[in-house]
Amino acid sequence: MKVEVIHGPNLNMLGKREPTIYGSLTLDEINEKIAKKAEKLGMEVDIFHSNSEGEIVSKIQILPNERIDGIVLNAAAYTHTSIAIRDALLSVSIPFVEVHISNVYGRESFRNNSYLSDIAIGIISGFGYLSYELALEALKYYLKRPLHNSLITI
Ligand code: DQA
Repeated sequence: MKVEVIHGPNLNMLGKREPTIYGSLTLDEINEKIAKKAEKLGMEVDIFHSNSEGEIVSKIQILPNERIDGIVLNAAAYTHTSIAIRDALLSVSIPFVEVHISNVYGRESFRNNSYLSDIAIGIISGFGYLSYELALEALKYYLKRPLHNSLITI
């Protein structure tokens, strides 16, 4: 099972950036946790970061060639603005989990809008770096049970 984790704009500033909202871990530290969690779950993981919308779109477009089974996507601010990232996800039809470190529903109202949520398998928001680990678990569960994937009952 091959998973792509995508980090969007300003996530390279984690550690320095609004630590009361995003915590004190840097992106490298979070990536180490992601890699360890993926290994524990027996998943192969590749991690990508870009501050640029076009680069994220191009990355999503090539994921089928890389035989990626699922995506963990924190599109950051592009979540709330990007029809281009939405269209890229629709064009590849790879299942994805939308992730946020902070609880976007407990913040400014413009963060309540997502161009991605309705086409995601689900959304994990508000658990700090654990949001990524929970997303990997959710993705593994979803990908292993394709017959039941639209109605998860635990
Ligand atoms: C974020 C939430 C977004 O609203 C914000 O623009 C980000 C990070 C999060 O992980 O909490 O950059 O996606």
